[in-house]
Amino acid sequence: MATLDLIGSSPKFRALLTEVERVAPVDSAVLIQGETGTGKEVIARAIHESGPRRNRRFVALNCAAIPGALLESELFGHERGAFTGAWAQTKGRFQLADGGTLFLDEIGDMPLELQPKLLRALQEREFERLGSTQTVRVNVRVVAATNQDLGQLVSRKLFRADLFYRLNVIPIRLPPLRERIPDILPLTEFFVAKFAARLNKPIDLIPDEVVAALKAHDWPGNIRELQNCIERAVLFSPGSVLRLPLDLRQTVAQSSETAARTLADADREHIVETLNQTNWLIGGQDGAANRLGLPRTTLIYKMRKLGIETRRSLGARPIRQLAGEQCRAAASC
Ligand SMILES: Nc1ncnc2c1ncn2[C@@H]1O[C@H](COP(=O)(O)OP(=O)(O)OP(=O)(O)O)[C@@H](O)[C@H]1O
Ligand SMILES: [Mg+2]
Repeated sequence: MATLDLIGSSPKFRALLTEVERVAPVDSAVLIQGETGTGKEVIARAIHESGPRRNRRFVALNCAAIPGALLESELFGHERGAFTGAWAQTKGRFQLADGGTLFLDEIGDMPLELQPKLLRALQEREFERLGSTQTVRVNVRVVAATNQDLGQLVSRKLFRADLFYRLNVIPIRLPPLRERIPDILPLTEFFVAKFAARLNKPIDLIPDEVVAALKAHDWPGNIRELQNCIERAVLFSPGSVLRLPLDLRQTVAQSSETAARTLADADREHIVETLNQTNWLIGGQDGAANRLGLPRTTLIYKMRKLGIETRRSLGARPIRQLAGEQCRAAASC
């Protein structure tokens, strides 16, 4: 794994690395599922690099990027004259990956009509090039990936169940970045260093509020989105202190509102708990104000602000009225 940049320290990321180490030595098919940008290709490469095939090729094919009609030829190759424009015999990705790993990205987009041939290649480790009757045998480990729910596609008959089970021998699910908050700081530091060097723009401070904002964002585009955001931030930071692009700064504002609400909740809980302990007695030696180290009027003012209704010690008078009286005297509280 030495050549790959695999950054992360969260428990979920560490568990993922353990899984990679566990599945790397065997030949079974792996199906990596996860939201866009979670690092599916990075993990597929890590499996290849950590296993006995590391000195052979890692061949990637994005099934969504190639028109259905060309995909068969891309996978299995073709003979000269197999179709219009086939000027020479061409090896397919299966053959190019012989001895190594074939990474089938976006496998959910594999056309249904091609799936039986792929299944056979996986099961029998053999196939024929387009336009040929000669069987080609290969030794390939297949790792597939998708951000679609392949099980769902199977139940909607958009993906063959037999192929799904053949690919899903070792399922790996990549958690989204919002479930790996402890990874955000090391990833940010990594991307800042990378883009600072690439853009020749030294950044020597990542302020705490920037880290807080990054942690508060929910990253629908996951690590790729974080990477792009840091690239923009490095590029547009006016000095050597990292500044976030405007859209992310708006997230900070929202998250600090949430933080303020949380603080009020904590205050409310603490006061109610103390009032419960004093049987809702506010003043005097054994009252809640004394326990909280607050003047009685200050506590009443705070209770009013936090919407805590009195239960006993203030007698029949509603707290709003009483608090109004007291708080005029305690305007500074
Ligand atoms: N753990 C990691 N450490 C450092 N960089 C990472 C890590 N995981 C992913 N990346 C980077 O994030 C970007 C997205 O990763 P990758 O292409 O593997 O995601 P993906 O899940 O395949 O995305 P998609 O579903 O869009 O194909 C890449 O630039 C990759 O280098
Ligand atoms: Mg990918």
